[in-house]
Amino acid sequence: MIFIRTFLLLLFQHLFLSSAFAVSGSRHHRNHSLLADEAALLAFKKTIVFDPESKLAGWTEGGDVCSFTGVRCDKHRHSVVQLNLSRSRLTGALSPIISNLSGLRYLILDENHFYGIIPPEFSSLRHLQSLRLDSNNLRGSFPEFLAALPNLTVLTLTENHLMGTLPPSLFSNCSSLANIELSQNLLTGKIPQEIGNCLSLWNLNLYNNQFTGELPATLGNISELYNIDVESNSLTGELPANIIGKLYSVVSLHLSYNKMVSHDHNTNLEPFFTALANCTELQELELAGMRLGGRLPSSIGRLSGELSTMLLQENSIFGTIPPDIAHLSSLTWLNLTSNSLNGTIPAEISRLSYLEQLFLSHNLLTGAIPAALGQLPHLGTIPPTLGKCTDLSMLDLSYNRLTGSIPPEISGIREIRRYLNLSHNLLDGPLPIELSKLENVEEIDVSSNNLSGSIFFQISSCIAVTRLNFSHNSIEGHLPDSIGDLKNLESFDVSGNHLSGGIPTSLNKSQSLSFLNLSFNDFAGVIPSGGVFNSVTDKSFLGNQDLCGAVSGMPKCSHKSQWFRLRLFLIVFVLVTFASAILITICCVIGIRRIKVMVSSGNSVDTEQARKPETPELIHNFPRITYRELSEATGGFDEQRLVGTGSYGRVYKGLLPDGTAIAVKVLQFQSGNSTKSFNRECQVLKRIRHRNLIRIITACSLPDFKALVLPYMANGSLDSRLYPHSETDLGSGSSDLTLLQRVSICCDIAEGMAYLHHHSPVKVIHCDLKPSNVLLNDDMTALVSDFGIARLVMTVGGGNGGVVENMGNSTANLLCGSIGYVAPEYGFGSTTSTKGDVYSFGVLVLEMVTRKRPTDDMFVGGLNLHKWVKTHYHGRLEKVVDPYLMRASRDQFPEVKRMWEVAIGELVELGILCTQESPSTRPTMLDAADDLDRLKRYLSGDTTATFASSLGISSSTLGDD
Ligand SMILES: *[C@@H]1O[C@H](CO)[C@@H](O)[C@H](O)[C@H]1NC(C)=O
Ligand SMILES: *[C@@H]1O[C@H](CO)[C@@H](O)[C@H](O)[C@H]1NC(C)=O
Ligand SMILES: *[C@@H]1O[C@H](CO)[C@@H](O)[C@H](O)[C@H]1NC(C)=O
Ligand SMILES: *[C@@H]1O[C@H](CO)[C@@H](O)[C@H](O)[C@H]1NC(C)=O
Repeated sequence: MIFIRTFLLLLFQHLFLSSAFAVSGSRHHRNHSLLADEAALLAFKKTIVFDPESKLAGWTEGGDVCSFTGVRCDKHRHSVVQLNLSRSRLTGALSPIISNLSGLRYLILDENHFYGIIPPEFSSLRHLQSLRLDSNNLRGSFPEFLAALPNLTVLTLTENHLMGTLPPSLFSNCSSLANIELSQNLLTGKIPQEIGNCLSLWNLNLYNNQFTGELPATLGNISELYNIDVESNSLTGELPANIIGKLYSVVSLHLSYNKMVSHDHNTNLEPFFTALANCTELQELELAGMRLGGRLPSSIGRLSGELSTMLLQENSIFGTIPPDIAHLSSLTWLNLTSNSLNGTIPAEISRLSYLEQLFLSHNLLTGAIPAALGQLPHLGTIPPTLGKCTDLSMLDLSYNRLTGSIPPEISGIREIRRYLNLSHNLLDGPLPIELSKLENVEEIDVSSNNLSGSIFFQISSCIAVTRLNFSHNSIEGHLPDSIGDLKNLESFDVSGNHLSGGIPTSLNKSQSLSFLNLSFNDFAGVIPSGGVFNSVTDKSFLGNQDLCGAVSGMPKCSHKSQWFRLRLFLIVFVLVTFASAILITICCVIGIRRIKVMVSSGNSVDTEQARKPETPELIHNFPRITYRELSEATGGFDEQRLVGTGSYGRVYKGLLPDGTAIAVKVLQFQSGNSTKSFNRECQVLKRIRHRNLIRIITACSLPDFKALVLPYMANGSLDSRLYPHSETDLGSGSSDLTLLQRVSICCDIAEGMAYLHHHSPVKVIHCDLKPSNVLLNDDMTALVSDFGIARLVMTVGGGNGGVVENMGNSTANLLCGSIGYVAPEYGFGSTTSTKGDVYSFGVLVLEMVTRKRPTDDMFVGGLNLHKWVKTHYHGRLEKVVDPYLMRASRDQFPEVKRMWEVAIGELVELGILCTQESPSTRPTMLDAADDLDRLKRYLSGDTTATFASSLGISSSTLGDD
């Protein structure tokens, strides 16, 4: 838990400070350079003209510099080594005074409003390793003097207004430069050849600038290069086959929206794709918007088996789609929109079992839609533990020349979640009733075909649909009333068909419907009123001869029919009034009886809640403890007892009169008065009992005060064991956790999480799993803490009554996860799921092995811990594993040489499996727990433990050496 770590830090600093006082007697004898740093920081503070979050409020003269917000000192408190005021909304000119912090290693000021130029004085920051100034308002030419900084590793200046060229001198001595991100500026000129000197470069991101010329050939020298993003510039020349063929570890290659051409005068893609086959780690290939000519070569099937994204839209690629594309077994996102592809859609595409988005629109494709598309592998044919399933969420085949009928099998793709677009083709046959099985789809567009048949009433099963477009076909019959049951419908277009009969009144029930087009059909009768009909004009009804109604521009209906409607209305009104009267009478009778019962039984829960408590009390069934006792236990919520703060609130250490140490977590929230749902959630969470989950002892709940009482864990968090002293020492030092301990901790966490996901009375998604939220007890058992907090805060904040699974509002997003641990899909607005927790768990496992924080400075922009591990691992443990762990394991298992190597390898692979991009391919926590348990038993000498692993991590049985 955060608070333990912070507590240790405070304690450490406290001890340190007091001993410093003891030795020197006076703070005036403090190190000279620290005094100079203090002066520089205070002067810097003066240059800030706006500090809306009062980040710098604690920066006062005579204060302890090393505990200023955002400031860190080195181990011996000789100087300030880090200034991190990221995302603080500070405004001011970027001041040269910062260069007085002579020992500075990390300067992190991204996402603020600093303006002006990057001061040339920064060249005196000789020790600077990391300069992060992204998302400010910095101007001027590119800061050439940065070339003078010998140890610069991370340089990120994304999203500013920097102009001019990249000076070649920047790269004359750049052996430590690993990460360059200059995207979204106004940089021009060529990318200097000298960049090839930066042999440690991993990430080169120049996206959205105005660079010209060819990609420098010297890039091919940089074998570690991981990400190349030069999208949206004006680069020219042939697709860089010679460079790419040497970059064996490149993982993402974004060249889209430049002015490159393919080989042989833009007619031949073969050489480039052949070279790409050397990139065995490639996951993302983006070559869109370049008018590239040529056929897709069949060698496309030899690209990396890891390839998950291939964007080739807006080019001039012709010929057929090679069936070999089906060899790209990890492909999830394929966009070939707006090319000149012809021939049929190869049925082999259905072998791409991870395909989620298939965009083939705006081509010259002919033939039928392969029925096999609907037979993408289903759950069950693949080992269920892998969770593989048909997950096609977007299918766009529009604007082609496809013929035949819509195959009923299309409904086999149950998971089409977002988008089905078959419009503008030559499809015929009846509208297949199977469409109604697409209960998750949000948009269906089959317009501009020759479809016939009628719209079936089962269409109301597509409950998620927001846009329905059946226009310009030959559909007949009546519109079913059930259309009105589509609660989410926003846009409904059936124009240009042969529909007849009346317009269903039910359409006015839909709250969300705002676009309606019924034009050019044979509808007749009165246009209903209410709902969408109050806002539409005659444009919605053009070309229907026999319609009339109150809509502006439409003919009024004759008196006769109005008189008829009035009579109908009167009859309905009388009936409804009569029925209501009867109902009310019945309710009253029942209500009076109930009240009598409640009054006679004094113990009723309802009455207890109705009575406003005089003295605040903890909710029933929990151990008795009052707000006063809680306040006394924490010294009146004394700041001295504060052991941590987080996004959910503050944590105090407390001591009960009987000597029990507790942690009191006071939740902060925006709106009060959801005490009842908070109590209900507490009741639920309190029942959750598991060896690997921190127990909620009790909770205190008042209209404007909510707190949880937890046992106090003196042994600290996993974070503090993995990174002892890291707060003051910036990550150096080592952890003494042995291999068996690490495996067993991972196993404990997995067991606890599996319980939350699969066995607890209500499914709980943790949302913030990370080492600081894992506590260790006396015998090193790991306990997951802070679970269910998201649930509680949701209920307190007046959210969706604790339905964590469906959190979609901003509070929820705020709550879901910490940087470095949060699953990528949450960034795209996915709802929270157990698979999000699995991702965080995977990161944690990799962290246990590598002892690198996913938030480490090296993992900035695109490079995250698991991608780093994946690129550098390849079975070579020494490349990624914590050196201490290697040494200690070698000593601990001298007799069986391979044993520890295998075990660490298993951990790495589990971590990689859990952090896969696509949530559906990640294992469940049950699978992970299972595997870790086997691994633990194997390491502790259980010879029957094998790795016929449920995850397929390793197929080998490891009993024999
Ligand atoms: C640069 O880094 C090296 C290796 O970490 C270190 O020995 C050297 O002192 C650093 N140089 C500066 C100027 O900080
Ligand atoms: C691909 O790799 C092979 C050897 O691994 C090398 O000979 C060949 O030149 C590379 N291709 C390109 C286009 O660089
Ligand atoms: C595919 O490309 C088209 C054309 O650029 C674009 O409109 C569409 O959004 C793309 N879809 C995906 C999922 O990339
Ligand atoms: C596809 O286009 C190519 C050239 O653009 C042409 O040679 C070929 O005949 C076309 N194939 C089909 C099936 O139309």
